[in-house]
Order: sequence, then structure tokens, then C-alpha cells
Amino acid sequence: MQKIKIGGLAGLSYLSGYFDRDGQEALLEQIRTIVSEAPLFQPVMPKTGKPFSVKMSNCGPLGWVSDINGYRYQPTHPETGKPWPEIPDTLLDLWCEVAPDAPKPEACLINFYETGARMGLHQDRDEQMFEAPVVSVSLGDSATFRVGGLKRKDPTSSFRLLSGDVVVLGGEARLAFHGIDRILKDTSTLLKNGGRINLTLRRVTPAD
Ligand code: SIN
Ligand code: FE2
Repeated sequence: MQKIKIGGLAGLSYLSGYFDRDGQEALLEQIRTIVSEAPLFQPVMPKTGKPFSVKMSNCGPLGWVSDINGYRYQPTHPETGKPWPEIPDTLLDLWCEVAPDAPKPEACLINFYETGARMGLHQDRDEQMFEAPVVSVSLGDSATFRVGGLKRKDPTSSFRLLSGDVVVLGGEARLAFHGIDRILKDTSTLLKNGGRINLTLRRVTPAD
């Protein structure tokens, strides 16, 4: 595992190859189990109702959802009404390693990208506190990740995220604009039918 610092914002780090192939396969199996209990759903943009190009699910006490009424965290799946499954220990261990001082994560968003899906430049700011970092794991096909500054118009740079890579947006970079420009088809054999999974761990409420 190599920790690389990117750009000018302190607190943005890139842990290349954090999970090796065995680790990725084990994590994928856990995500499959989660998604069999909490199926992927199709989020839509608030107000316009335009569908996202990614499908989503969550695990943890809270899950992030977006529908016609807005973005929010909620304790249950929007379609099944059931509580989200637990966050796997592997991901809690990752959090402890990269965010030792932060209270434990409450939400793990699971994004599934088919080839052609993307995620526009945005900030993660639906949480009630920003002291804890956002920790994200990539599985499957590589993606072009774009990251900028604290203002939408700030200059951005992009780099490739490969299966097993981890990105931490903490400190000054906690509210950095970021997004996914594109998924690079056939760049990984992890997912049988291709595509990419991104797991994003976040603390939502202040520590008790
Ligand atoms: C996100 O910002 O929600 C996802 C980032 C990613 O897919 O790597
Ligand atoms: Fe994000």
C-alpha cells in the first residue's frame, strides 16, 4: 500500500492498492450479501426527478438516499422499509486505520456504476459534522476521479482509481468538490459483468 498526497489540499490522500485481489473478492462477497438484503435502488434528483446514472444501496445505521423531496440520511431502505444491513468489519477496520480519531462511521453508501455512468462534481455535505473524513473504496473497473477545491469553480485535476484503491477526503479536503468522469470498460475482472462499485463511509451525526 502506497499513500500518495494529491493536489494542494491537506487531508486528501490516495491509498493505492489498499485491498489486494483476495481482499477485494472477500469484500465483494460481503457487498453481494448486503445487496441481496437491501437491493440496489434507482435514486432520482430532487425537484426534477431525473434518475442518477448510478444505482445505490447502503449499509450501516443510516443510509444516504435521494428522491424528489431531497437528499437525506435515513435508517431504512426506501423500497423495502427494512433497516440497512450492518457495515462489514473489513470496512470498520479500514476506517479505524485511516480515521483513528474519528467516531465510527454510520453510513456506507454503495454506488454501482455501469459503463457509461458518471457522478457530477459535488461536495459531500449532507452530514451534520465534517470533522470525520469521507473514506471511499473502489472495486471493479477503473474510473477517472476528478477532485477540485472548496469552490465549484476552483481548478480540478483527475486521476485513475483502480480496484482496491482507497481515497480519504479529510481535514481541509473534507468538503472538496469531487466526481467521477467515467468508467473505463474492461479494466478489471473482479465483477463478472463489468462495471464499478464504490463504497463511501461517512460519519453523519456528532459523536455521542
Ligand atoms: C461519490 O462521491 O459519491 C462517489 C465517488 C466514487 O465513486 O469514487
Ligand atoms: Fe461524494
